[in-house]
Amino acid sequence: MENTMQPIHEGSRKEVMSYLEPYMLNEMSEYLKPVEEMWQPADFLPDASRDTFFQEIKDLQDSAKELPYDLVAVLIGDTVTEEALPTYESWLTMVDDVEKHEQGGWMKWVRAWTAEENRHGDLLNKYIFLSGRVDMRQFEISVQYLLRDGFDIGTGRDPYRNFIYTSFQEIATNISHRRVAGLAKQSGDKLLAKMCGVIASDEARHAKAYISFISKAAEVDASEVLVAFEDMMKKKIVMPAHFLRESGEPQSELFSHFSDAAQRLGVYTAVDYVDIMKELLTEWKVDAMTNLNEAGEKARDYLMRLPDRLLRIADRMKNPEKHYSFKWIHGGR
Ligand SMILES: [Fe+2]
Ligand SMILES: [Fe+2]
Repeated sequence: MENTMQPIHEGSRKEVMSYLEPYMLNEMSEYLKPVEEMWQPADFLPDASRDTFFQEIKDLQDSAKELPYDLVAVLIGDTVTEEALPTYESWLTMVDDVEKHEQGGWMKWVRAWTAEENRHGDLLNKYIFLSGRVDMRQFEISVQYLLRDGFDIGTGRDPYRNFIYTSFQEIATNISHRRVAGLAKQSGDKLLAKMCGVIASDEARHAKAYISFISKAAEVDASEVLVAFEDMMKKKIVMPAHFLRESGEPQSELFSHFSDAAQRLGVYTAVDYVDIMKELLTEWKVDAMTNLNEAGEKARDYLMRLPDRLLRIADRMKNPEKHYSFKWIHGGR
């Protein structure tokens, strides 16, 4: 059968973005939930109008007391990351052609995505505030710094690089929130387990959306999508909180301690990075992509070989042993 779809000439992101816009508008609801049906932070938190309010807080604190130190550190780091949402939203609106129409498909998506994501930081922030484990002032200083520092993820304004990045990141956050949920449950904190579980399922839904945008773009502009993917993987996908710091420290100083704690706990590891890469290769059926130009073919071959190479490196990596005392957490290690 002849393919009637005219390939869009290379490098024309604008055309691809306009081509995708009707798809976005039609399919968006599949990846978003109606506001009225959505969980809200209040569904999980103690309600100050109830007689049982103080008892609920006491119960929350009793379970939070048992959480391992590294887990609290990772939870706070995750919360700081979620609270830097204004950085991510403003970055998405800077992507070429996204802000063309305030009521167009792309802007609608960005706003709806932001509105869903905003609940994550909101819920986690209230939990850590009530938990009694966290020095809230220190946490808030980190949030303010991270918002001021922004991030540098190497995507520029390119929609392909941006949506490849978000595809990767939404899977990564799904994994890490899901693992925190599991560890919280093991430690007996059912509330925290439930909270991180619902956040993780939002992230999974968002991952599907971004993956589908790239799949659609690849249908008409495969070589350019692969070149963008290759470029992002060569630069390495950095975490959105890679500039993380605490008070009195220079930019980025805290990030490695946060990611060491995540690696030690198995919340997010070098092997997860490779697994996400493999998942994206499968989702986008990269190995089956044909009709590529020379750069596209080179990119495809590089990408297909990359997971094995990264796994060999991951195997050689030692689990970080150096424990760190975070200013965020009351009472020291
Ligand atoms: Fe989130
Ligand atoms: Fe997310």
